[in-house]
Amino acid sequence: MTLSPSAQLQLTESGELRHFLTVDGLPRPLLERIIDTANSFVVVGNQEVKKVPLLRGKTVVNLFFENSTRTRSTFELAAKRLSADVLNLDIKTSATSKGESLLDTLRNLRAMHSDMFVVRHSQSGAPHFIAEQVTPNVAIINAGDGRHAHPTQAMLDMLTIHRHKGAFDQLKVAIVGDILHSRVARDQVHALATLGCKDIRLIGPNTLLPAEAASLGVTVYTDMDMGLEEVDVIIMLRLQTERMDSAFLPSASEYYQVYGLNRQRLAKAKPDAIVMHPGPINRGIEIESEVADGSQSLILDQVGYGIAIRMAVMSMAMSGQMQERQAAEVI
Ligand code: NCD
Repeated sequence: MTLSPSAQLQLTESGELRHFLTVDGLPRPLLERIIDTANSFVVVGNQEVKKVPLLRGKTVVNLFFENSTRTRSTFELAAKRLSADVLNLDIKTSATSKGESLLDTLRNLRAMHSDMFVVRHSQSGAPHFIAEQVTPNVAIINAGDGRHAHPTQAMLDMLTIHRHKGAFDQLKVAIVGDILHSRVARDQVHALATLGCKDIRLIGPNTLLPAEAASLGVTVYTDMDMGLEEVDVIIMLRLQTERMDSAFLPSASEYYQVYGLNRQRLAKAKPDAIVMHPGPINRGIEIESEVADGSQSLILDQVGYGIAIRMAVMSMAMSGQMQERQAAEVI
Protein backbone atom coordinates (compact mmCIF):
# COMPACT_ATOMS: atom_id res chain seq x y z
CA MET A 1 0.00 0.00 0.00
CA THR A 2 1.41 3.42 -0.95
CA LEU A 3 1.09 5.98 1.80
CA SER A 4 0.20 9.64 1.22
CA PRO A 5 3.08 12.14 1.81
CA SER A 6 1.49 13.24 5.10
CA ALA A 7 1.16 9.61 6.27
CA GLN A 8 4.83 9.04 5.34
CA LEU A 9 5.78 12.02 7.46
CA GLN A 10 3.73 10.70 10.38
CA LEU A 11 4.80 7.06 10.34
CA THR A 12 8.14 5.35 10.83
CA GLU A 13 9.47 2.72 8.40
CA SER A 14 7.81 0.02 10.50
CA GLY A 15 4.45 1.84 10.55
CA GLU A 16 4.66 3.25 14.08
CA LEU A 17 3.49 6.76 14.90
CA ARG A 18 6.33 9.31 14.75
CA HIS A 19 4.23 12.52 14.62
CA PHE A 20 0.48 13.00 14.89
CA LEU A 21 -0.57 15.70 12.44
CA THR A 22 -3.85 14.58 10.86
CA VAL A 23 -6.03 11.48 10.78
CA ASP A 24 -6.19 11.76 6.98
CA GLY A 25 -4.32 8.85 5.38
CA LEU A 26 -3.60 6.90 8.57
CA PRO A 27 -4.43 3.18 8.37
CA ARG A 28 -7.38 1.68 10.22
CA PRO A 29 -5.33 -0.69 12.46
CA LEU A 30 -3.38 2.31 13.77
CA LEU A 31 -6.57 4.24 14.60
CA GLU A 32 -7.90 1.12 16.35
CA ARG A 33 -4.67 0.83 18.32
CA ILE A 34 -4.98 4.46 19.44
CA ILE A 35 -8.52 3.73 20.69
CA ASP A 36 -7.44 0.50 22.46
CA THR A 37 -4.46 2.19 24.09
CA ALA A 38 -6.64 5.12 25.21
CA ASN A 39 -9.17 2.70 26.69
CA SER A 40 -6.43 1.33 28.92
CA PHE A 41 -5.54 4.89 30.01
CA VAL A 42 -9.14 5.75 30.98
CA VAL A 43 -8.51 3.49 33.99
CA VAL A 44 -5.42 5.48 35.04
CA GLY A 45 -7.65 8.55 35.51
CA ASN A 46 -9.72 6.62 38.06
CA GLN A 47 -6.74 5.38 40.09
CA GLU A 48 -5.65 6.81 43.43
CA VAL A 49 -2.26 7.66 41.90
CA LYS A 50 -3.00 8.94 38.40
CA LYS A 51 0.43 8.29 36.90
CA VAL A 52 2.27 5.81 34.69
CA PRO A 53 6.00 6.07 33.94
CA LEU A 54 5.91 5.85 30.11
CA LEU A 55 7.33 9.33 29.48
CA ARG A 56 9.57 9.56 32.54
CA GLY A 57 12.64 11.66 31.79
CA LYS A 58 11.08 13.10 28.61
CA THR A 59 10.38 16.79 28.03
CA VAL A 60 7.13 17.89 26.43
CA VAL A 61 6.68 21.51 25.34
CA ASN A 62 3.17 22.92 24.90
CA LEU A 63 3.22 25.57 22.18
CA PHE A 64 -0.18 27.20 21.87
CA PHE A 65 -0.14 30.08 19.40
CA GLU A 66 -3.96 30.23 19.59
CA ASN A 67 -6.32 30.28 22.57
CA SER A 68 -7.40 27.05 24.18
CA THR A 69 -8.81 25.83 27.49
CA ARG A 70 -9.71 22.14 27.20
CA THR A 71 -7.11 21.05 24.68
CA ARG A 72 -4.20 22.78 26.37
CA SER A 73 -5.04 21.65 29.88
CA THR A 74 -5.81 18.06 28.87
CA PHE A 75 -2.52 17.84 26.93
CA GLU A 76 -0.72 19.11 30.03
CA LEU A 77 -2.50 16.62 32.29
CA ALA A 78 -1.89 13.80 29.82
CA ALA A 79 1.85 14.52 29.73
CA LYS A 80 1.99 14.74 33.53
CA ARG A 81 0.07 11.48 33.95
CA LEU A 82 2.69 9.89 31.69
CA SER A 83 5.35 11.31 34.09
CA ALA A 84 6.90 13.72 31.52
CA ASP A 85 8.40 17.09 32.41
CA VAL A 86 6.10 19.70 30.88
CA LEU A 87 6.97 23.20 29.76
CA ASN A 88 4.07 25.49 28.86
CA LEU A 89 5.60 28.19 26.71
CA ASP A 90 3.76 31.47 27.19
CA ILE A 91 3.77 32.75 23.62
CA LYS A 92 2.64 36.25 24.62
CA THR A 93 5.74 36.78 26.76
CA SER A 94 8.14 34.71 24.65
CA ALA A 95 10.74 36.04 22.21
CA THR A 96 8.45 35.20 19.27
CA SER A 97 6.70 38.46 20.22
CA LYS A 98 10.11 40.22 19.95
CA GLY A 99 10.36 39.25 16.30
CA GLU A 100 12.15 35.92 16.64
CA SER A 101 10.92 33.61 13.89
CA LEU A 102 8.90 30.54 14.77
CA LEU A 103 11.67 28.27 13.52
CA ASP A 104 14.30 30.04 15.62
CA THR A 105 12.15 29.70 18.75
CA LEU A 106 11.69 26.01 18.00
CA ARG A 107 15.38 25.43 17.29
CA ASN A 108 16.15 26.90 20.72
CA LEU A 109 13.62 24.63 22.36
CA ARG A 110 15.11 21.67 20.52
CA ALA A 111 18.55 22.70 21.78
CA MET A 112 17.12 22.27 25.31
CA HIS A 113 16.68 18.56 24.40
CA SER A 114 12.90 18.66 24.15
CA ASP A 115 11.38 15.38 23.02
CA MET A 116 7.92 16.50 21.94
CA PHE A 117 6.17 19.69 20.80
CA VAL A 118 2.41 19.97 21.12
CA VAL A 119 1.46 22.69 18.65
CA ARG A 120 -1.70 24.72 18.12
CA HIS A 121 -1.52 27.37 15.41
CA SER A 122 -3.98 29.53 13.46
CA GLN A 123 -2.18 28.76 10.19
CA SER A 124 -3.27 25.54 8.48
CA GLY A 125 -0.21 23.38 7.91
CA ALA A 126 1.99 24.91 10.65
CA PRO A 127 2.56 21.58 12.51
CA HIS A 128 3.46 19.84 9.20
CA PHE A 129 5.94 22.60 8.46
CA ILE A 130 7.45 22.24 11.93
CA ALA A 131 7.64 18.46 11.59
CA GLU A 132 9.51 18.85 8.31
CA GLN A 133 11.87 21.59 9.53
CA VAL A 134 12.60 20.88 13.20
CA THR A 135 12.85 17.15 13.57
CA PRO A 136 14.47 14.56 13.64
CA ASN A 137 14.14 13.51 17.23
CA VAL A 138 11.23 15.74 18.25
CA ALA A 139 7.72 14.31 17.97
CA ILE A 140 5.18 16.88 16.77
CA ILE A 141 1.58 16.54 17.92
CA ASN A 142 -0.99 18.74 16.22
CA ALA A 143 -3.36 20.34 18.74
CA GLY A 144 -5.35 22.11 15.97
CA ASP A 145 -4.11 24.04 12.93
CA GLY A 146 -6.25 26.68 11.23
CA ARG A 147 -9.25 25.03 9.65
CA HIS A 148 -7.19 22.01 8.58
CA ALA A 149 -6.94 19.27 11.22
CA HIS A 150 -7.42 18.48 14.92
CA PRO A 151 -6.53 14.80 15.14
CA THR A 152 -6.60 14.30 18.92
CA GLN A 153 -10.08 15.87 19.08
CA ALA A 154 -11.29 13.58 16.28
CA MET A 155 -9.84 10.53 18.02
CA LEU A 156 -11.28 11.42 21.42
CA ASP A 157 -14.64 11.70 19.67
CA MET A 158 -14.06 8.24 18.16
CA LEU A 159 -13.21 6.89 21.63
CA THR A 160 -16.44 8.43 22.99
CA ILE A 161 -18.53 6.89 20.19
CA HIS A 162 -16.79 3.52 20.51
CA ARG A 163 -17.29 3.33 24.28
CA HIS A 164 -20.97 4.25 24.07
CA LYS A 165 -22.02 2.71 20.75
CA GLY A 166 -19.53 -0.06 19.92
CA ALA A 167 -18.52 -0.82 16.32
CA PHE A 168 -18.74 1.93 13.71
CA ASP A 169 -20.04 0.02 10.70
CA GLN A 170 -23.76 0.10 11.58
CA LEU A 171 -23.80 3.66 12.94
CA LYS A 172 -25.40 6.77 11.48
CA VAL A 173 -23.42 9.84 12.52
CA ALA A 174 -24.44 13.47 11.91
CA ILE A 175 -22.01 16.38 12.18
CA VAL A 176 -23.94 19.65 12.41
CA GLY A 177 -23.09 23.32 11.98
CA ASP A 178 -20.11 25.29 10.79
CA ILE A 179 -18.34 22.55 8.86
CA LEU A 180 -16.57 25.01 6.56
CA HIS A 181 -14.37 26.51 9.29
CA SER A 182 -14.01 23.36 11.37
CA ARG A 183 -10.71 21.52 11.62
CA VAL A 184 -12.52 19.07 13.90
CA ALA A 185 -15.12 18.06 11.30
CA ARG A 186 -12.49 17.28 8.66
CA ASP A 187 -10.57 14.86 10.87
CA GLN A 188 -13.82 13.38 12.23
CA VAL A 189 -14.94 12.51 8.69
CA HIS A 190 -11.57 10.89 7.91
CA ALA A 191 -11.61 8.95 11.19
CA LEU A 192 -15.23 7.77 10.86
CA ALA A 193 -14.72 6.66 7.26
CA THR A 194 -11.47 4.84 8.06
CA LEU A 195 -13.08 3.07 11.01
CA GLY A 196 -15.85 1.74 8.78
CA CYS A 197 -18.76 4.13 9.36
CA LYS A 198 -20.92 4.03 6.22
CA ASP A 199 -23.50 6.73 7.01
CA ILE A 200 -21.79 10.05 7.72
CA ARG A 201 -23.99 13.12 7.39
CA LEU A 202 -22.94 16.75 7.28
CA ILE A 203 -25.74 19.15 8.19
CA GLY A 204 -25.54 22.92 7.83
CA PRO A 205 -26.44 25.94 5.71
CA ASN A 206 -24.90 26.00 2.23
CA THR A 207 -22.68 28.92 3.24
CA LEU A 208 -21.07 26.81 5.99
CA LEU A 209 -20.54 23.61 4.00
CA PRO A 210 -17.22 23.17 2.17
CA ALA A 211 -17.35 22.87 -1.61
CA GLU A 212 -15.53 19.52 -1.45
CA ALA A 213 -18.11 18.03 1.00
CA ALA A 214 -19.67 15.71 -1.57
CA SER A 215 -16.27 14.27 -2.51
CA LEU A 216 -15.62 13.22 1.11
CA GLY A 217 -18.04 10.28 0.80
CA VAL A 218 -20.62 11.87 3.09
CA THR A 219 -24.26 12.87 2.61
CA VAL A 220 -24.95 16.57 2.84
CA TYR A 221 -28.18 17.97 4.29
CA THR A 222 -29.31 21.57 4.57
CA ASP A 223 -32.53 20.43 6.30
CA MET A 224 -31.64 19.52 9.87
CA ASP A 225 -34.80 17.52 10.60
CA MET A 226 -34.15 15.31 7.59
CA GLY A 227 -30.46 14.94 8.41
CA LEU A 228 -31.11 13.87 12.00
CA GLU A 229 -33.62 11.17 11.07
CA GLU A 230 -32.74 7.95 12.99
CA VAL A 231 -29.10 8.89 13.67
CA ASP A 232 -27.14 7.24 16.53
CA VAL A 233 -24.69 10.09 17.10
CA ILE A 234 -25.07 13.87 16.80
CA ILE A 235 -21.90 15.98 16.88
CA MET A 236 -22.62 19.70 17.18
CA LEU A 237 -20.05 22.32 16.16
CA ARG A 238 -19.56 25.91 17.26
CA LEU A 239 -19.96 28.82 14.85
CA GLN A 240 -16.29 29.69 14.43
CA THR A 241 -16.75 33.42 13.94
CA GLU A 242 -13.01 34.07 14.46
CA ARG A 243 -12.38 32.25 11.17
CA MET A 244 -15.18 33.94 9.22
CA ASP A 245 -13.93 36.79 7.08
CA SER A 246 -17.31 37.82 5.66
CA ALA A 247 -21.00 37.53 6.52
CA PHE A 248 -21.82 33.82 6.36
CA LEU A 249 -25.03 34.07 8.34
CA PRO A 250 -27.95 36.46 8.71
CA SER A 251 -27.79 36.38 12.55
CA ALA A 252 -27.04 34.03 15.42
CA SER A 253 -30.70 33.88 16.47
CA GLU A 254 -31.82 32.99 12.97
CA TYR A 255 -29.13 30.29 12.88
CA TYR A 256 -30.46 28.87 16.15
CA GLN A 257 -33.99 28.78 14.71
CA VAL A 258 -32.85 26.60 11.81
CA TYR A 259 -29.77 24.67 13.06
CA GLY A 260 -29.89 24.83 16.86
CA LEU A 261 -30.19 21.41 18.54
CA ASN A 262 -33.31 21.60 20.73
CA ARG A 263 -35.38 18.81 22.29
CA GLN A 264 -37.84 18.65 19.36
CA ARG A 265 -35.03 18.15 16.86
CA LEU A 266 -33.23 15.66 19.08
CA ALA A 267 -36.43 13.55 19.00
CA LYS A 268 -35.83 12.97 15.25
CA ALA A 269 -32.75 10.90 16.12
CA LYS A 270 -32.87 7.42 17.63
CA PRO A 271 -34.19 7.48 21.24
CA ASP A 272 -30.78 6.39 22.55
CA ALA A 273 -28.78 8.77 20.33
CA ILE A 274 -25.81 10.45 21.96
CA VAL A 275 -25.05 14.19 21.73
CA MET A 276 -21.46 15.40 21.49
CA HIS A 277 -19.68 18.75 21.05
CA PRO A 278 -15.92 19.50 21.10
CA GLY A 279 -16.53 22.67 23.11
CA PRO A 280 -16.56 25.51 23.78
CA ILE A 281 -20.36 25.33 23.56
CA ASN A 282 -22.51 28.37 22.89
CA ARG A 283 -25.84 27.81 24.60
CA GLY A 284 -28.77 29.21 22.64
CA ILE A 285 -26.70 29.50 19.46
CA GLU A 286 -25.97 25.94 18.39
CA ILE A 287 -27.45 23.99 21.30
CA GLU A 288 -30.29 24.36 23.80
CA SER A 289 -29.18 24.20 27.44
CA GLU A 290 -31.61 21.38 28.24
CA VAL A 291 -29.99 19.26 25.53
CA ALA A 292 -26.41 20.21 26.44
CA ASP A 293 -27.06 19.24 30.08
CA GLY A 294 -29.49 16.41 29.30
CA SER A 295 -29.17 12.67 29.79
CA GLN A 296 -28.12 12.01 26.17
CA SER A 297 -25.27 14.51 26.30
CA LEU A 298 -21.68 13.24 26.58
CA ILE A 299 -20.09 16.67 26.26
CA LEU A 300 -18.31 16.54 29.63
CA ASP A 301 -17.35 12.86 29.26
CA GLN A 302 -15.53 13.86 26.06
CA VAL A 303 -13.19 16.07 28.10
CA GLY A 304 -12.04 13.15 30.27
CA TYR A 305 -11.63 10.89 27.24
CA GLY A 306 -9.46 13.66 25.76
CA ILE A 307 -6.83 13.02 28.45
CA ALA A 308 -6.79 9.28 27.68
CA ILE A 309 -6.50 9.84 23.92
CA ARG A 310 -3.70 12.36 24.37
CA MET A 311 -1.85 9.96 26.66
CA ALA A 312 -2.22 7.25 24.00
CA VAL A 313 -0.97 9.39 21.14
CA MET A 314 1.92 10.88 23.12
CA SER A 315 3.15 7.52 24.36
CA MET A 316 2.81 5.91 20.92
CA ALA A 317 4.65 8.75 19.14
CA MET A 318 7.40 8.69 21.75
CA SER A 319 7.83 4.97 21.39
CA GLY A 320 7.94 5.31 17.57
CA GLN A 321 10.62 7.99 17.91
CA MET A 322 12.66 5.85 20.32
CA GLN A 323 12.53 2.82 18.03
CA GLU A 324 13.66 4.95 15.14
CA ARG A 325 16.55 6.40 17.14
CA GLN A 326 17.66 2.93 18.25
CA ALA A 327 17.50 1.65 14.67
CA ALA A 328 19.63 4.58 13.51
CA GLU A 329 22.23 3.82 16.23
CA VAL A 330 22.46 0.18 15.16
CA ILE A 331 23.12 1.22 11.55
C1 NCD B 1 -12.27 23.06 18.79
C2 NCD B 1 -11.10 23.76 18.16
O1 NCD B 1 -10.36 24.49 18.80
O2 NCD B 1 -10.95 23.55 16.96
N1 NCD B 1 -12.30 23.02 20.19
C3 NCD B 1 -11.46 22.26 20.92
O3 NCD B 1 -10.36 21.93 20.54
N2 NCD B 1 -11.94 21.82 22.11
C4 NCD B 1 -13.56 23.51 18.25
C5 NCD B 1 -13.91 24.96 18.43
O4 NCD B 1 -13.10 25.80 18.74
O5 NCD B 1 -15.10 25.27 18.21
